[in-house]
Amino acid sequence: MGNTFNSNPDEVMLAVSKGRIFEQAMPLLERIGITPTDDPDKSRKLVLDTTAPGVRLLVIRATDVPTYVEYGAADLGIAGKDVLMEYEGSDYYEPLDLKIAQCRLAVAGPPQAVLVDGRTRVATKYSKVAREYYARLGVQAEVIKLYGSMELAPLVGLADRIVDLVDTGNTLRANGLVEFETICEISSRLIVNKAAMKTKHKRVSAIIAALRAVVKDG
Ligand code: ATP
Ligand code: PRP
Repeated sequence: MGNTFNSNPDEVMLAVSKGRIFEQAMPLLERIGITPTDDPDKSRKLVLDTTAPGVRLLVIRATDVPTYVEYGAADLGIAGKDVLMEYEGSDYYEPLDLKIAQCRLAVAGPPQAVLVDGRTRVATKYSKVAREYYARLGVQAEVIKLYGSMELAPLVGLADRIVDLVDTGNTLRANGLVEFETICEISSRLIVNKAAMKTKHKRVSAIIAALRAVVKDG
């Protein structure tokens, strides 16, 4: 039981999102003694109690995790590096790569894209990342913000490139698109509110250490 989280009077809030991150984070959290008492896919509750006394899960949208943690509404959070890169703030600690939900952020498009006036039109949910990427390359690009199904944009002439997450490449292939460049590798990170690191030091650092140990063990 070396990695099992021990009870403590302080309350700790951990923000997670439903779906992929919840599914992949739960085995890690269970190994350190944090098991939700409700299934978020069945329950409508947004705050879930866990088997660890005083540890509760906040179930929120993936893109909202850094906001909750930065403002201290959650002490800890689990978020994809893609979400963190796109987030405007950065006032939180990022002590641990959980190595879950692994994929990459990539530039993709039709194999024979024709650029009008040599200007790239890029459709993406990751407008900040895309702007920074093209600025680094010194390439003029018009970035069109979308909220999902980026793969559709080149098929209907909205853009000639997309910046999106790629894992198996199946979604790109199914839509006749090819991957051109990887922008960066992505995985989920544990993030921590800066004040909570001090005021709840014992509890928060115990969770970080326990998770670090299970991630290292594989
Ligand atoms: P929301 O539902 O709030 O819009 P989302 O659709 O981005 O969020 P998920 O699809 O569950 O939520 O993705 C959560 C995180 O999982 C992403 O931020 C990314 O880090 C990672 N991820 C997304 N797609 C993949 C994939 N195909 N393979 C591996 N990891 C992925
Ligand atoms: C993500 C991402 C890609 C797809 C890539 O979508 O936005 O579309 O995964 O994975 P692949 O390379 O293995 O096909 P997701 O499955 O999360 O659906 P979403 O549109 O609901 O986010």
